[in-house]
Amino acid sequence: MLSKSPVAAELFSRISEKRAKLGVLGLGYVGLPLAVEYAKAGFDVTGIDLSQEKVDSFNQGISYIKDVPDSLIRPLVESGRLRASTDFSVIQDLDTVDICVPTPLRKTKDPDMSYVIAATESIAAHLHPGLLIMLGSTTYPGTTNELVLPKLEASGLQVGSDFFLCFSPERVDPGNTKYKTANIPKVVGGITPVCTELGALLYGQTLETVVPVSSTKVAEMVKLLENTFRMINIGLVNELAVMCDRMKIDVWEVIDAAATKPFGFMPFYPGPGLGGHCIPIDPFYLSWKSKEAGIEARFIELAGHVNGRMPEFVAEKIQNALNSATKPVRGSHVHILGVAYKRNIEDVRESPAIDIILTLQRLGAKVTFSDPFVSHLHLHGLEMEAQDFLASVSSADCVAIITDHDGVDYQAVVEHSKMIVDTRNALKKFRSEKIVRL
Ligand SMILES: NC(=O)c1ccc[n+]([C@@H]2O[C@H](COP(=O)([O-])OP(=O)(O)OC[C@H]3O[C@@H](n4cnc5c(N)ncnc54)[C@H](O)[C@@H]3O)[C@@H](O)[C@H]2O)c1
Repeated sequence: MLSKSPVAAELFSRISEKRAKLGVLGLGYVGLPLAVEYAKAGFDVTGIDLSQEKVDSFNQGISYIKDVPDSLIRPLVESGRLRASTDFSVIQDLDTVDICVPTPLRKTKDPDMSYVIAATESIAAHLHPGLLIMLGSTTYPGTTNELVLPKLEASGLQVGSDFFLCFSPERVDPGNTKYKTANIPKVVGGITPVCTELGALLYGQTLETVVPVSSTKVAEMVKLLENTFRMINIGLVNELAVMCDRMKIDVWEVIDAAATKPFGFMPFYPGPGLGGHCIPIDPFYLSWKSKEAGIEARFIELAGHVNGRMPEFVAEKIQNALNSATKPVRGSHVHILGVAYKRNIEDVRESPAIDIILTLQRLGAKVTFSDPFVSHLHLHGLEMEAQDFLASVSSADCVAIITDHDGVDYQAVVEHSKMIVDTRNALKKFRSEKIVRL
C-alpha cells in the first residue's frame, strides 16, 4: 500500500467501509447505470444533471434508459440511497464524483470540450479536501492532465494529497444483455499513484474487475484504441462490401467462411454506416490530438471516409433495386425498417438511417419507417412518426432493413414485401428473389 496523506487515508477508509458519499455528474446512457450500480453496491449516491426533466424522472424511480428497468432504480430511490439533483452545491458533501457528460464533435470534426469544461468548473466551484474526481467521458489523451487538472488546482488544493483525479473510460454497450456496467472490466489511471489506488478501490467495491494503469493518458488512449480499432475494421469490411457488390460476391458468406479461421482473424460486418455517440466520433478525438504531435492519422481519416459514404451507397442500392423493377425512385414508397443506430436499442443519434431517409426524400421517394424501439424521429429537420409495420411492409415498393432488431417478424417481411434491400443480413436464412443484400 502507498503512503498517503491523512486526507487520502480518510477517503480510503470511507470508500473501503462504504461510508463514502458518491456523486455522478451527467445522468445519461453512461451515468445513470453507473449511479445505479454504486447504489446497488450499498453506497449513498447522488446524481447531478442539468436536465430538470431527467432529475424529476430519476427521483420518481422512472428510468429513461432502456437497459435500466424501473424495477431496479425505484427501490434504490425509495430506500433513500439514490437521488438526483440539478443543484451542484451537493458536491460539497460528496466524497467522489464521476463525470459522465457528452464529448461530441464540432462541425469541423474538432473535439467539443464545452461539456467537460462546464462540468469541471462546476466541480471546481465546490472542490474540497478529500474529493476524488473521475473523468469518464471519452476524450483525447492529455485531457485530464492538461484541461481538467489546472482548473481544479486553481483552488490552491494539491492533487494526490488534498484531492484526487483519475480518468476511467466507460465501455458500456447499450443493448448488450451479457455485458453491462457491473461486469465490464473498468480501466482506471490516476494523476498520481494514490489517485489510481483510490479510483481502483472505489470501482473494486462496485464492479467485478478493475484494471489499473500507470497514468490518465494511458487510460484515455485505451478507450480511443478500442473504438478506433472497431471503426477501422468496420471501414475495411464496408470497403470490402462495396468491392464484393461490384464483383457480385456475397460479402456475408466471405466473412462467415473467413471467421472459421481459429486464429488471427476477427469478424466485423458491413452495414449502412456508423452511428451512435462513440464509434463515429471518438477516433476523431485521436486524429485531432495526433495532429498536434505532427502525425497524420491516415487510417482514421480513410475509415471515416469509407464509413461516411455507406448511407449514400445504400440509397443508391435502393434506387438501383427499384430501377431493376422499372420503378423510378421518384414517387416510389420506400419503407425503412429500423432507424436506431444499432440493434435492440432506441438511440437514433448519428444513425445512418437519417442520412438514408434524407437522401431518398431528396430523390423524390415517399419514405416511411417502423422500428419497435422508436416511435418518432424529430431531428435534422425530419419530423416523422413510426408507421404500422405490416401495413407499411405490404404497401411499400421497397423495404430497406437498416437496423436488424431482434423480435421483428422477418418471415412476414419476406412474405408481404415486394422488394427488400437488406443492409444487415437480417434475412440470412431466407432465400428469395425479392432480397437484395448489401
Ligand atoms: N452512450 C454510450 O454507449 C457510451 C459508451 C461509452 C462511453 N460513452 C461516453 O460517455 C460520455 C457520456 O455519454 P452518454 O451517452 O452517457 O451521454 P448522454 O447524452 O446520454 O448523457 C449525458 C448527460 O450529461 C448531462 N450534462 C451535460 N452537461 C452537463 C453538465 N455540465 N453538468 C451536469 N450534467 C450535464 C446531460 O443532460 C445528459 O443527461 C461521452 O463522452 C461518451 O462518448 C458513451
